[in-house]
Amino acid sequence: MSLSDKQEADLIAAAQAAAEHAYAPYSDYPVGAALLFEDGAVITGCNVENASYGLALCAETVAVAKALGEGRRGGLAAVAVVGLKADAEPITPCGRCRQVLNEVAALGGTDPLVLCVSKDDVRRVSLSELLPHAFGPGHLG
Ligand code: THU
Repeated sequence: MSLSDKQEADLIAAAQAAAEHAYAPYSDYPVGAALLFEDGAVITGCNVENASYGLALCAETVAVAKALGEGRRGGLAAVAVVGLKADAEPITPCGRCRQVLNEVAALGGTDPLVLCVSKDDVRRVSLSELLPHAFGPGHLG
């Protein structure tokens, strides 16, 4: 899956805007994620931390929870992840978020493009490159 320059810029802008809402007082590392679906819908999330540090939710996980909670079951075409404090090296989804993203992707049989964004760079990878041989709903029969 590839996006036009405009689709890519719009998705990154949506993730950036979501990062502005990040609740990250403990790490001071705001992150935004934007999920693009095949029908054009965009669902965003930001990281949400907690005074009990280990309960932090990543931006991608929040976005996926919103998408599934709104009834989305597949159709995930692309994801943008923006770390407002990521300078040179683009942020990439953490391991748990790769698995969480895989759930929505697997439900619709797509392999979404993941745009990993820093101030200076955009890294384009597929979810299957980030999470090869993924465990998914299909394994449960
Ligand atoms: N974080 C994300 O939101 N997504 C990732 O993929 C990596 C990390 C958040 C979690 C925590 O709130 C902060 O970044 C620092 O780890």
